[in-house]
Amino acid sequence: MDATALLALMQTRRSVRRYSERPVSQTALGRLFEAARWAPSAHNRQPWRFAALVEPEPRLRLAEAMGARFRRDLLADGLAPDEVERQVARSVARIGGAPAVIVVFLSMADMNRYPDVRRQSLEREMAAQSVALAVQNMLLMAHAQGLGMCWMCAPLFCPDVVRETLGLPPDWEAQALLTVGYPAEARSKDRAPLEAKVRWF
Ligand SMILES: Cc1cc2nc3c(=O)[nH]c(=O)nc-3n(C[C@H](O)[C@H](O)[C@H](O)COP(=O)(O)O)c2cc1C
Repeated sequence: MDATALLALMQTRRSVRRYSERPVSQTALGRLFEAARWAPSAHNRQPWRFAALVEPEPRLRLAEAMGARFRRDLLADGLAPDEVERQVARSVARIGGAPAVIVVFLSMADMNRYPDVRRQSLEREMAAQSVALAVQNMLLMAHAQGLGMCWMCAPLFCPDVVRETLGLPPDWEAQALLTVGYPAEARSKDRAPLEAKVRWF
C-alpha cells in the first residue's frame, strides 16, 4: 500500500453538492457498500444499514416527506414563510435531484444491551461511531472512483419520517443521507493546523 497515495486520496476528497447528469452504475455503488462492509465496528457487530435510492421516484418521495417535516420545524422556529420555502425547496432539490442517494441507518439490534442508561447510551455512541466509519470508507471509495458525495445530516432530524416513507424495519434509525454523483463542481477546503488538535506526551 502506498501511504502517499492514500494520504493524497484523503486530502483531495471534498464534499460535492453539484452533480452532472451522468448516472452512477450499480457496480460503482456496489463498491461503496463493499468499502462500508470493511469498516471497523464495535464488537464487529456492523450496526450500519443502508437504503440505496437509485430510482428517481423514491428519492423525490423521501425528499418531499422530509421537506414537509423541515418546513414544520422551521415555521415553529419563527422563520419567515418565504425563507422557510426557500430552504425547503433547496433541500428537496438537493436530495430529489441527486443522481443517487444512500440513506445511512444505525441498528442497535446486534449491539450489547445493558440494564443501566449510562452503559446503554455509551453502547449507542459506539454504534454511531461505527456507522460514521463505514461512511468515511464510502466517501473515500467514491472519491477513488471519480464520484463525489456529500453527507447530509437531515435524516437525523426526522428518523420516523424516513423509516415510514421507505417502509423500513423499526430498528433502522436514520443517521444521514449521502448524495452521490459525478462532480459538476470543484471545491477547496482547508483544515486547522495540527498543533491546535494534537498534544504529544
Ligand atoms: C456529521 C456531518 C454532517 C454533515 N452535514 C451536512 C449537511 O447537512 N449538509 C451539507 O451540505 N454538508 C454536510 N456535511 C459536510 C461538511 O460540511 C463537510 O464535510 C465539511 O465542510 C468539510 O468539507 P469537505 O468534506 O469538503 O472536506 C456534514 C458532514 C458531517 C461529517
